[in-house]
Amino acid sequence: MDHDQGPTGPGWLVALETSPLGDTLRQSIWLYPLVEIAHILGLALLVGSIVAFDLRLMGARAPLLPADALSRLLLPISVTGFALAVPTGILLFIAEATALVRNPAFLVKMALLVLALVNIAVFHSLAGHAMAAWSLADRPPRAARLAGAASLTLWVAILACGRLIAYV
Ligand code: HEM
Repeated sequence: MDHDQGPTGPGWLVALETSPLGDTLRQSIWLYPLVEIAHILGLALLVGSIVAFDLRLMGARAPLLPADALSRLLLPISVTGFALAVPTGILLFIAEATALVRNPAFLVKMALLVLALVNIAVFHSLAGHAMAAWSLADRPPRAARLAGAASLTLWVAILACGRLIAYV
């Protein structure tokens, strides 16, 4: 960014970054940190509850902890975390849009986020659909264990990329 000329890049990103909202996010002393705190709270709820469920999908504490009961406990927490992490992430993005689309850590994070959501959709349409059938089984079915392992890897990688954004 040429500080004299302002942000450079695709017109819609420049418009987003130089919008009154983008300017306020960058100029306010408290707004950006508050949004980032809310972003971190969102990802803590989201990734914390997902990791607990992924470990169960991979067989941890099976059959002591019925998978469907655990899912009923954790899913609302994951959804609340996601509903907090995404809008706050978009606000963080608006503040520095033109720089972030050139940031490899941000781009990889967004790609991993898409993969993680596809993994959730595949799980729910396959093994998740029949969870009641294997909820008390000693060993979850292979599709559930694979979905759990993929999810665990993807969300930890998303966290790492999120943190690396500030360093790249
Ligand atoms: C929903 C899952 C998401 C997770 C788990 C996640 C995770 C993270 C993490 C761990 C950080 C580093 C926070 C820090 O240590 O300061 C971060 C920062 C960031 N996230 Fe996310 N994020 C998510 C979604 C999003 C979305 C959807 C966007 C934008 C479209 C986004 C944009 C950003 C930006 C711009 C930063 C950098 C903030 C900075 O360093 O100043 N995030 N995210």
